Amino acid sequence: MKVEFSAFPRAFSGNVAVFVGAEKQLQVTAKAIDTATGGALVRAMEASRFTGSKSKTLTVLGQQGYGRLILLGVGKARELDARTAEALGGLIAADANGAGLKAVTIVVDPVKGNRVPPAQVAAHIALGAQLRSYHFDKYKTKEKPEQKPSLEQITMVVAGSADARRAYAALEPAIDSVFLARDLGNEPANVLYPVEFARRARQLLTKVGVKVEILGEAEMKKLGMNVLLAVGHGSRRESQMLVMTWMNGPKSQQPIALVGKGVCFDTGGISLKPAGGMEDMKMDMCGAAAVTGAMRLLAARKARVNVVGICALVENMPDGNAQRPGDVWTSMSGQTVEVINTDAEGRLILCDAMWHVQNKYKPQAMVELSTLTGAIVVSLGHERAGLFSNNTPLSNRLRAAGSEIGEKLWRMPLGPKYDKLIDSDIADMKNVSNGRDGGSITAAQFLHRFVQEGVAWAHLDIAGTAWGKGNETTPKGASAFGVRLLDRWIADSYER
Ligand code: BES
Ligand code: MN
Ligand code: ZN
Repeated sequence: MKVEFSAFPRAFSGNVAVFVGAEKQLQVTAKAIDTATGGALVRAMEASRFTGSKSKTLTVLGQQGYGRLILLGVGKARELDARTAEALGGLIAADANGAGLKAVTIVVDPVKGNRVPPAQVAAHIALGAQLRSYHFDKYKTKEKPEQKPSLEQITMVVAGSADARRAYAALEPAIDSVFLARDLGNEPANVLYPVEFARRARQLLTKVGVKVEILGEAEMKKLGMNVLLAVGHGSRRESQMLVMTWMNGPKSQQPIALVGKGVCFDTGGISLKPAGGMEDMKMDMCGAAAVTGAMRLLAARKARVNVVGICALVENMPDGNAQRPGDVWTSMSGQTVEVINTDAEGRLILCDAMWHVQNKYKPQAMVELSTLTGAIVVSLGHERAGLFSNNTPLSNRLRAAGSEIGEKLWRMPLGPKYDKLIDSDIADMKNVSNGRDGGSITAAQFLHRFVQEGVAWAHLDIAGTAWGKGNETTPKGASAFGVRLLDRWIADSYER
């Protein structure tokens, strides 16, 4: 979809979206159109419950000289922030695509008392419209043209359109990066298996200047990643370790490590999951997809930072060769792990991936993303991801970045009493505690045992947020949760 920025024209026509503030305060352009149409906008508001409150819209049809008129609720002045702007952009895109419109003009009137400059508001509306226009239809052979998104162009009308264009250019790399992560998440597991995930990452990331290395099973075996490899024993597909580096920061800067869980399909293994809903477990690689998308975004905007992204890519299958409950493996760290439940496989692949990235790159901070536990979905639902960390400043910066871009986190506890629950009778630890109580916390405790001295570590359990019914800026399916969060956290913490 093309985005254009324009100064205010003398008159408007066609499909036009205009601002209305709280309590039906028509902003300048809305007022002018209301006058030109003999009060059509006020009449439409009277015939509805639309009051201009934040992120609500009202569509007015059939006015002389206009196609679709969309009233955008911007709420009270201080409510019109980047988040609201993105939501409005998403709502416009959904409305326009639903109605089969090809072009919409969006008028960004300055809202009195609003602290976000109109140029920023315009840029974020355009971003929101783009993010909502994502459509995964490669397997739909019978989709009619009217079922496809129709919107080809939006024109942002804003005073200081050059500033808005610049602000949008800074946001634009996020679009394809989010779409990359969503594509990976939505792709079925017969198509996207570890080798194919790694191949796509290599193809798409080398293009933007990221260095990509891929380790196969033989190389991982040599490094001692027995716990990771055990998860893949039941699969016909070879496990892979995807290592992406973007070293564009000062030479003296210790890198930041991003680690992603990439279980391309999680059947549970011998501890087989029930059939109902199992198809959703193609999304169990969304941590890896978020890391890959974030690496793309950092490179596309030439971030001045040193980052390494590492994804453990496996498939968890039941098979004659699969690992059994009760098996004991020696991890790369030397610690031994008793596998009680083969469905708690995420922590098994992550422990070796985390150890490897710490050994090889000596990161100052390590943030890991995984669709790790159903328990976090019970705790936090789909609104927030769980955050576990050994470092409060890191936690606070991640939470702040999340709030700013609308991918919210909630800090969860860690502690020695929880840690004790994963002590094993015959090995150093077991991969689950007795019973399900505190399941997302005991999972995090397991990972914590693989964090090296002096590394600021955070684990984001994104099982509830990586996949969903959709919202203003996200269609249903893979959300790409984490891509913009990681980018914002790095920009705010390491590039200032
Ligand atoms: N991939 C799942 C967790 C998951 C659940 C992700 C729902 C997304 C939505 C993970 O590998 C898993 O199976 N976890 C088990 C752990 C249990 C065996 C201790 C779970 O949550 O039930
Ligand atoms: Mn599992
Ligand atoms: Zn899993």
